[in-house]
Amino acid sequence: FTSEVTEEFRPTYHFTPESGWMNDPNGLIYLDGEYHLFYQHYPDSTVWGPMHWGHAVSSDLVNWEHLPIALFPDSLGYIFSGSAVLDTENTSGLGTAETPPIVAIFTYHNAEEANTKSQTFQSQAIAFSLDKGRTWQKYEGNPVLPNPGIRDFRDPKVSQITNENGTKSWIMTLAVLDQINFYSSPDLKSWTLLSEFGKTIGAHGGVWECPDLLPFKTPSGEGKWVLLVSINPGGPQNGSATQYFIGDFKNGQFTPDDTMIRWLDYGPDNYAGVTWSNLPSDHDRTLFIGWMSNWLYANEVPTKAWRSAMTLPRELSLFDVDGTLLLKSAPAKELEKLRDKEYKVTKKSSSLPSEAVELISEVNSDSFMVTFSNELNEKLVISKELGLVNIDRRNAGKSTFQRDFAAIHSAPMSWEATEIRIFLDASSVELFVNDGELVMTSILFPSSPWKTVEVSDQVNSLKIYNLKK
Ligand code: FRU
Repeated sequence: FTSEVTEEFRPTYHFTPESGWMNDPNGLIYLDGEYHLFYQHYPDSTVWGPMHWGHAVSSDLVNWEHLPIALFPDSLGYIFSGSAVLDTENTSGLGTAETPPIVAIFTYHNAEEANTKSQTFQSQAIAFSLDKGRTWQKYEGNPVLPNPGIRDFRDPKVSQITNENGTKSWIMTLAVLDQINFYSSPDLKSWTLLSEFGKTIGAHGGVWECPDLLPFKTPSGEGKWVLLVSINPGGPQNGSATQYFIGDFKNGQFTPDDTMIRWLDYGPDNYAGVTWSNLPSDHDRTLFIGWMSNWLYANEVPTKAWRSAMTLPRELSLFDVDGTLLLKSAPAKELEKLRDKEYKVTKKSSSLPSEAVELISEVNSDSFMVTFSNELNEKLVISKELGLVNIDRRNAGKSTFQRDFAAIHSAPMSWEATEIRIFLDASSVELFVNDGELVMTSILFPSSPWKTVEVSDQVNSLKIYNLKK
């Protein structure tokens, strides 16, 4: 039982918990130079259990410092997913004018009650911190939004919007069975239902979870709202995935522009992702991170000391393909800090400097193939052909822990691919085509690190960066 064995598959530059179980990112907030990342965490085991909020901070989205657990389960239940806001004007009264509180809004899941016929075991609650997220106090009036009698009632994402008359309101976007409810509040403590969305639109192969409501500008400068909704099961690759809607949010109501089903990431392993709140206006961007796994096999993947990593942080924006708006996920620019040595490759085949690399290629035709292999004859194949982008992990290492794991995953891409960026880490691949116009995230467990990359003739340049923290 050497540390080498227990650390096998530990990523170099992706966020993982020090030990134990992790799922969704929670409470993403930027404050005073720190990006906070809370996460669904069970410290006592590497399988899902009584949920806590784990905590880490970073000044650059690349180097993370682990902090003590922020929220522990209590008599009201486990601490499920949620968000965090800075209550600048102390509308909640939980801080002072000089020390505005960070308020975390989360779901209580009462596990005992969930085992009964009860339908009311999930409710929304708040906690606050007056010391930059280091210590937390739960609000004594919890829950702030009791359950109306619906068993899936969770994952509050709160943001502040400015109304047409100039006043501000807190808006909560909540997943309720397989639809979204919007609530508003003046003080984060009392919540009023505004509207419901989604009963008859979108993918409904599973329960809706972890929503996020985001304002964007279109390429032509028009204001649009995007609603992210994770769904499990019922994703395009089986199991978990995140769909999104584009439309308007007016008078407390979301109205989609069309009925098209859109997916944020076509790989199997990007789930429950949400965005950071409170980014200062001088770096006004929409920064996203997701949980890099899938409920199909999250509890079975062959890591030992911990389970699951987060995706790379990504910057979301809208782009246009032949008149259709879609969401683009570009790797956050901070990731360029990871670049260590650069290798310009002129041959069709090259060895890889380490298991943590970024590859950038220009492609000059609408089909290409990039193959990674190791000395054990395992292969990871990335390609585009006949309008489909594919990641083939059928023979990419360990896969017997779950029968659906070894598979080819494909994504439709009707427009031209001109550039591909691939991030490899010890147990993942993230593919960004045209800087994120199409994204696929996939975890994998090669029995030995990838040693060689081989590219097809259509790939006319290849740069490899060794990545280092
Ligand atoms: C999504 C999810 C959430 C829930 C949390 C529990 O992965 O199921 O809906 O709050 O995980 O850990």
